[in-house]
Amino acid sequence: MSGPNSDYDPVEVTPLHADEVEAMRDAALAALAAADSLEALKQARIDHTGDRSPLALANREIGALPPQARKDAGMRVGQARKAVAAALAERQGVLEAEAEARMLVDEAVDVTLPTDRTPRGARHPITTVQEKVADIFVGMGWEVAEGPEVEAEWLNFDALNLGPDHPARTMQDTFWVSPASAARVLRTHTSPVQARTMLTRTPPIYVIAPGRVFRTDEMDATHSPVFHQVEGLAIDEGLSMAHLKGTLDHFAQAIYGEGMTTRFRPSYFPFTEPSAEMDLLCYVCHNEPGAVAQCRTCRGEGWVEWGGCGVVNPRVLIANGVDPQRYSGFAFGIGLDRTITGRYDIADLRDLFDGDIRFTEPFGVEI
Ligand code: PHE
Repeated sequence: MSGPNSDYDPVEVTPLHADEVEAMRDAALAALAAADSLEALKQARIDHTGDRSPLALANREIGALPPQARKDAGMRVGQARKAVAAALAERQGVLEAEAEARMLVDEAVDVTLPTDRTPRGARHPITTVQEKVADIFVGMGWEVAEGPEVEAEWLNFDALNLGPDHPARTMQDTFWVSPASAARVLRTHTSPVQARTMLTRTPPIYVIAPGRVFRTDEMDATHSPVFHQVEGLAIDEGLSMAHLKGTLDHFAQAIYGEGMTTRFRPSYFPFTEPSAEMDLLCYVCHNEPGAVAQCRTCRGEGWVEWGGCGVVNPRVLIANGVDPQRYSGFAFGIGLDRTITGRYDIADLRDLFDGDIRFTEPFGVEI
């Protein structure tokens, strides 16, 4: 006769002995403790808590046990897994904190070290003003023309009705390029660009030509052997002095604001007839009765000199292949340097040419 199978001890026949579960747990805890990086910890986590880890496999076997043994083994394995999970979380926290601390050290920047960054430059006011002038005229449909600084004597003088006997051709004003037989000069004005333009284009012509010019002046606070002009030339049917005045007034207002105006004084240039010196209403005192007497910019004049201008001499049109019966035109040449020194109250013209960054910096990068 057989009795109940009371002495059957399932714990004896499973691999879930207490010491075995303890060994799995201790191996897991040792591996976690030994992990010295987040990378190593990840591997220990996979090995000891992953689907194929000994504790996970043991856990899966619990279900196959009889009820009493299942309870004991479940508790043992559960506690072991809990201990491993807690150790994992703790180790994770420690390693993350370490990694962060290391990053703070490795990536620290000493902001007091000298840098090799190139300091920000500034634009020269002459460049800025030249571009501004060009913009204003381009806005009226004009084009920008250019010519070389080393110019043919013929274009600098003869083409502009400056005959061989004209005083401007004497050695006093002009830098001649040697040898003399080359008949080349450093251009004494931007007017040869007028000749170049008429020779290469057919009217209507509306061009502006900013550029550097040269004369044999001694350098001092108000003179420089190198300076800057902006030339203007318009050739079309029926152009007159009135168009010139209107253009210059618009130009003056575009640069210096509303209410600006220009005035003409009779003058002489071989390449224009009639010719005028043009003055700009003083942009500081506006020639107002209360202010003009003390104005330092125009020295009480109410006007500042701006340049020369006139109606293009028909002899110049002919010399450069333009039919004077059909076309007429006007031209002007404005001195930029004095305009700038006056505008910004710069006492010494030499400041414009020294190339000292401390001078240009306050002008910034205005475009
Ligand atoms: N070229 C003249 C100068 O340098 C200026 C000017 C230009 C005058 C055009 C009349 C017409 O002084």
